[in-house]
Amino acid sequence: MTPEQRIVKLRDEVNFHLYRYHVLDSPVISDKEYDKLYHQLRELEVEHPELVSADSPTQRAGAEPLEGFEKVKHPVPILSLANAFSADDLRAWRTRIGPHLPNATLDLDYMVEPKLDGLTVVLTYRDGVFVEGATRGNGEVGEGITQNLRTLYSLPKRIPVDPNSKIKTPPYLVVRGEAFFPLDKFEELNKSRIDAGEQAYMNPRNAAAGSLRQLDSSITAKRPLAIYCYDIVASKGVDLPAEQKDRLAHLESLGFPVSPDNLYCKNIDEVVGAYEDWDDKRNQINYEVDGIVVKINDRPLADSLGFVGKDPRGATAMKFPAQEEITTLLAVEVSVGRTGVLAPVAVLEPVEIGGVIVRNATLHNYQEIARKDIRIGDRVAVKRAGEVIPYVVGPITDVRKGKEKVVEPPKQCPACRGPATQIEGEVAIYCDNPSCPEQLVRRIEYFASRGVMDIESFGSHTSSLLTEKGLLADLGDIYLLQEKDLLLLEGFEKKKVDNLLAGIESSLKQPADLVLTGLGIRFVGNAVAKLLLKTFGSIDAIAAAKESELEAVDGIGPQIAKAVNKWFKNGSNTKVLDKLRKSGLQFDLAKQKGATGALAGKTLVVTGTLPTLSRADAEALIELHGGKATGSVSKKTDYLVVGESAGSKLAKAKSLGVAIVDEAALLALVGGAAVKPVAMAKAAKATAKATTDKSKADKKPTKKKSKKKVKQFDLF
Ligand code: IVH
Repeated sequence: MTPEQRIVKLRDEVNFHLYRYHVLDSPVISDKEYDKLYHQLRELEVEHPELVSADSPTQRAGAEPLEGFEKVKHPVPILSLANAFSADDLRAWRTRIGPHLPNATLDLDYMVEPKLDGLTVVLTYRDGVFVEGATRGNGEVGEGITQNLRTLYSLPKRIPVDPNSKIKTPPYLVVRGEAFFPLDKFEELNKSRIDAGEQAYMNPRNAAAGSLRQLDSSITAKRPLAIYCYDIVASKGVDLPAEQKDRLAHLESLGFPVSPDNLYCKNIDEVVGAYEDWDDKRNQINYEVDGIVVKINDRPLADSLGFVGKDPRGATAMKFPAQEEITTLLAVEVSVGRTGVLAPVAVLEPVEIGGVIVRNATLHNYQEIARKDIRIGDRVAVKRAGEVIPYVVGPITDVRKGKEKVVEPPKQCPACRGPATQIEGEVAIYCDNPSCPEQLVRRIEYFASRGVMDIESFGSHTSSLLTEKGLLADLGDIYLLQEKDLLLLEGFEKKKVDNLLAGIESSLKQPADLVLTGLGIRFVGNAVAKLLLKTFGSIDAIAAAKESELEAVDGIGPQIAKAVNKWFKNGSNTKVLDKLRKSGLQFDLAKQKGATGALAGKTLVVTGTLPTLSRADAEALIELHGGKATGSVSKKTDYLVVGESAGSKLAKAKSLGVAIVDEAALLALVGGAAVKPVAMAKAAKATAKATTDKSKADKKPTKKKSKKKVKQFDLF
């Protein structure tokens, strides 16, 4: 092979492995093997600099800083869309289209895509090579940011990315996509900027735009930007599929990253359902979306519908309620948390954010206030995302009048007047008084809350009232509450008392990990509680463990070990535990499993890639239902749970006659149904695939009620 051939081969290989890693999330070689290939390529290029090409992965951050951005004229106008804000607006859009259709009764189907809140980019490929990337600019002319875009690992530098692909290299292709900052990476970036004394970015969109508009691409290269592509805006020498659904699939097969959340909808009702589903979903994904884009799936038809002004008729954006608003910070109050943390709470000029009136917002901690330089009297950006407590993003410093006041951390607890202390190495300020009445109220409230002991009708009002009236002196008293005492309280009529006591009674069934979580030990959230119980088996065994034994658990650091040990050593906590144990709460993992689990006494092995559950999740599910999850197949194995690409374990299970089930069957098993094992690997594979596809296609529009009502949002 000539050096040139070797370089071309290595370049394609390295690009392909980058794609497997960054786009498909499924590498086929180890990091070490990848490094080896990369270095071979790098060395060859050093020997033959004349053979270095723009699409070489070694050129990711190699260019000199620019003086300014070049102007790039787009091949076609890069348009935006008209907005709809509700299901009614969407149906009105569909009705308006009617008269423009060749046949008014035509049924339309749609693609629903997340409206990514990032920066639009226009990517040009000539003979398969990425040669130019630009911002949208004014829609006609954008800024050339080719070198910066080259630094995105997931952006294909040559298409098709897979060198073995059967798809012909398109001579000319211009693709539109949205570059964005993943949320977790955004938080990390801001933290490190603040640590370095730089200004934090206001939101992920600004961070994406700021990162792509750097004249020095080595800065962009350090920013973990991602991209999803969704349209082909110009092409030559390729037959474009007629349906938007297939265009997205085509983009994907060329190696472009495409959102996994795109959804095909058969009719407008399904689109409305998808919009409602996004209400929850938008808070669960690692990127920001500010709405959905609804596109008529039949592209030639959509394109034939023309424009209203500059907006194409064939698609519309459906925005979600805004999550961020600007208001005035009136004061900063101190709230006492269940662990004694004295947290700053913003008192705001009331502002409506996404249909909710926000009066208070968290300011996280005093260090954050100082770092962001938030002052009383400032205009501040406030964000409210889904179920998350509203928080102050930062001040708008350029509208300051000069009278704004610096926020002082508290010197004492506002509830018990005890001194406020700061633990070395920690950011938070604490009230160190274990009998602080406010801390008790918060501990009880947390214990009873949804997701922990889940005691119905036991909120913050009940916990303050019962503590104030002396009926609750600690968590253990919850289970000793008497009907006659409760009936004496104002507003506690018979029905309410019955409900409360029934809620308390049924919380006795909550599993041990939630009991442990509810104790409110510092750093012990549900994940840590589960881990500790899985290791030690019971709350009493955890209580008896030495600090060193706790620390020996994988995933438990010295800080957690110390906090757990300290909590269980404390005499008043031991008393609380005794009360809870006597009241019959679940303290023991094993007892609970054996008694109630649908898989009690069964041994299962999980192998291959399951369609929705990770291996760890599947094993946790098995254990939760009383089964034992082991790593190897033997005669004692009751079920082998198979996913895609199952290997030797499947062969062994077959030879031993072990029952073979897929994920759907596992889910049915834990739901208590009798299951017919799927005998063959092929069948298991097919079912696994079918469940994934089906779960997407079957997505029914949920008839959830709109949450548009304006409700009050209070932190206290
Ligand atoms: S389609 C004419 N699809 O949202 C076609 N836009 O006004 C218009 N956006 O700023 C674009 N995700 O950059 C389309 N899947 C998606 C999108 C998307 C985000 C942005 C787009 C534009 C705005 C729509």
